[in-house]
Amino acid sequence: MDIDADAVDAALTTTRAVRRRLDLDRPVADDVLLDCIDIAEQAPTGGNLGSRRWIVIRDPAKKAALAEFYRHGAGRWMTSAAERLAGSGHPMERNMASSAHLVEHLAEVPAIVIPTILGRHDGSGRPGLFDSVIQAAWSFCIALRARGLGTAWVTAALADDQAVKELLGIPADVTEIVMFPVAYTIGTDFERAPRHPAREITYFDGFARTFESGPNDPVMLADGPGAVAEIDIDAPPAAIWPVITDINMNAAFSDEFQGAEWVDDGPRGDRGVGASFVGTNFNSNFGEFKVPSFVDAYDEHVAYGWRTSDMDNPGARWRFELEPRPGGTRLRYTMKLGPGPSGLTMAIESMPDKEARIIARRITSQLASMQRTVEGVKEIVAARLEQGS
Ligand SMILES: Cc1cc2nc3c(=O)[nH]c(=O)nc-3n(C[C@H](O)[C@H](O)[C@H](O)COP(=O)(O)O)c2cc1C
Repeated sequence: MDIDADAVDAALTTTRAVRRRLDLDRPVADDVLLDCIDIAEQAPTGGNLGSRRWIVIRDPAKKAALAEFYRHGAGRWMTSAAERLAGSGHPMERNMASSAHLVEHLAEVPAIVIPTILGRHDGSGRPGLFDSVIQAAWSFCIALRARGLGTAWVTAALADDQAVKELLGIPADVTEIVMFPVAYTIGTDFERAPRHPAREITYFDGFARTFESGPNDPVMLADGPGAVAEIDIDAPPAAIWPVITDINMNAAFSDEFQGAEWVDDGPRGDRGVGASFVGTNFNSNFGEFKVPSFVDAYDEHVAYGWRTSDMDNPGARWRFELEPRPGGTRLRYTMKLGPGPSGLTMAIESMPDKEARIIARRITSQLASMQRTVEGVKEIVAARLEQGS
């Protein structure tokens, strides 16, 4: 059997959270929903035990009650966030406007579908019950999309487990997973969403180890090896920005880096892209050494980066990225080695047969100090917020 990979990929990459483009006026037949559930039931299930149970809600009073739970759960917050962010250009503005729209219109959707699973999640953090239902729920979304329907993955309406159970007569030992407002979509053109590229979030042979190509076996510098440290901080990006753009901040957390001094402003006469500083480092193999560095990313409250040794042929590329998340910010700190010369390339040149081992050791030590750095940033930000500065 030939599978049309393009069609499958198109469905997988354009199945968006649809809220404002749900057609509230066009009826959805039960048969369509049942077909999609039959397809979803083909998803893998632990022990080959079919424990998923699906509830289709058509009753206007019950839909209205679920909409009310949603409004009480996160709906009020979503509506006020949408009002606050309207016209601000904030990365969450569109999402919040769309979420607020669904809060207002949930009761009007032709059908609400709730997949459940027999049993309660054990909360152990180990693979378990949820792993036998999430993939089926997502297959259901894809099957809808293939038929011109859409939905959104809504969980906030299920926050009051007791109320939902009472409304729908769900036994205590059954878990509701997600609530799908289902309708035909208004138009069927949906786009791919911006997401982290696979290379940035795929780790090879150990957590937080990235490669720009390959990796070859054995690993080479030409593979562009790198490392990632991340932390969630309960503060807005604006509170973190001054800390990560302080070129001396890392000195407190790095084994090697002692401090830095500005050398030149960038072409715009500021410390943005093109500005340069020189860092002083110390390590037991090389003693003290100076590393010229050049700011290569300055996107206020979003990304700050620099390259070492040479802007065009850097020894390493470093970057802080700030990603807003509910209640705070995710700080992502990345480092990519090469492609240009550095202390590392000198070490490799003197022991070419040990290239893979030299890289592995370098990454391991960098990872440790990068982790200390993001933890340190979090502490500095928390302390500043506490002092009200
Ligand atoms: C675990 C989870 C919970 C979610 N809860 C809600 C929700 O309560 N309300 C809602 O409108 N969207 C909810 N969503 C949908 C996300 O907001 C949506 O997937 C995200 O904004 C990305 O949009 P996209 O799916 O179109 O790429 C949830 C998604 C997931 C995975």
